[in-house]
Amino acid sequence: MKLLRVLGLMSGTSMDGIDAAIIDTDGMVADRLNLSISVGYDKKMKNKIISAVSDAATFKKPGETSQTIVGLERELTEMHADVVDRLLKQSNMTPADLDLIGFHGQTILHRPEASWTWQIGDGAMLARLTGIDVVNDFRSADVAAGGQGAPLAPLYHQALFKGKTEHPAIAVINIGGVANVTTMVFVGHDPWLKAFDTGPGNALIDDWMTKHTGAAMDKDGATAATGTVNETLLAKWLHDDYFAAPPPKSLDRNYFRLEGLGGMSVEDGAANITAFTVSSIQLAIEHMTAPPNAWYVSGGGRHNKEMMNLLRVSLQVPVEPVEAIGLDGDMMEAEAFAFLAARSKLRLPLSQPSTTGVKEPVSGGVMHKAG
Ligand SMILES: Nc1ncnc2c1ncn2[C@@H]1O[C@H](COP(=O)(O)OP(=O)(O)OP(=O)(O)O)[C@@H](O)[C@H]1O
Ligand SMILES: [Mg+2]
Repeated sequence: MKLLRVLGLMSGTSMDGIDAAIIDTDGMVADRLNLSISVGYDKKMKNKIISAVSDAATFKKPGETSQTIVGLERELTEMHADVVDRLLKQSNMTPADLDLIGFHGQTILHRPEASWTWQIGDGAMLARLTGIDVVNDFRSADVAAGGQGAPLAPLYHQALFKGKTEHPAIAVINIGGVANVTTMVFVGHDPWLKAFDTGPGNALIDDWMTKHTGAAMDKDGATAATGTVNETLLAKWLHDDYFAAPPPKSLDRNYFRLEGLGGMSVEDGAANITAFTVSSIQLAIEHMTAPPNAWYVSGGGRHNKEMMNLLRVSLQVPVEPVEAIGLDGDMMEAEAFAFLAARSKLRLPLSQPSTTGVKEPVSGGVMHKAG
């Protein structure tokens, strides 16, 4: 069939901004065009999202909202329209060159146990502003069918890695705000997939740095690199039931409330939290079908040198950024939602029992026609 040209928009739990990328896809294979843009949120916008997350946590049931959240949704949608416009201009394209937009939206609540996951972003408004068909609300159908609603990138990971590696078993670990892994064991035509959120990614480190230094992140892991890990404290954190629980499982950004950091220097705190992310990734191996022979890292966490060093030491097999096989680790999630938008249009599954725990493979997403 004809390939669809799709633009994916991702704004993850790190609340760092919006990534956009364009791919050509039939929902099965993806041709990456290497056309992308990242537009960061300013402090004011990040704070508005943080407030929306706190407000949403007080709501009792899906459908409840507030004037502030409705206003923020509009503002975010306008910003996404602007990002689309900028990427099109930069790519010498017009809206007519695109078949579809995949619009993830900003997650402000994720409670799959209550069949409730909420990404703000007005799909109809984005379709109107851009003149391009939009698919949004990717996760609700999965949670309604009993799934975790996350992670959703695994089917895209499968499309990217199939036939691209000699290793019998690999793991793709995306270190965003939360970290999620897709494991693939290559047997037969389709690899065995297993995917789940491993634990924290960068969000806890970002929050620690903002609180103590005002910085948005521990750039390159430089602060953590000079701190000392308190092994007793780390072991205590790793006792959280989440790590022993078998997949399927997914996490709300604010699930972990780390105790014991009081009085610690900024360096030691950063070192402990970074070690926590790394150890939780290592613990994930227990839940895999086979231990991976190699790990490929995407997401902002792969820019954190200390984290990458610690991952290499603890995993003891090759750990590479996804650039090692020619991919763009900053854009994989945005590309994934372009891929999933095409699958949604074609009514193909976005998730399956091995990725979100949903009982049967299900499609999802909501289509908003431009005209
Ligand atoms: N040079 C760097 N050094 C250390 N950390 C970095 C660096 N660059 C990015 N990061 C981290 O990566 C984060 C952004 O990662 P990313 O955009 O992949 O996450 P996200 O938006 O939460 O996406 P998702 O949750 O969907 O995977 C930043 O908040 C920061 O913590
Ligand atoms: Mg991001």
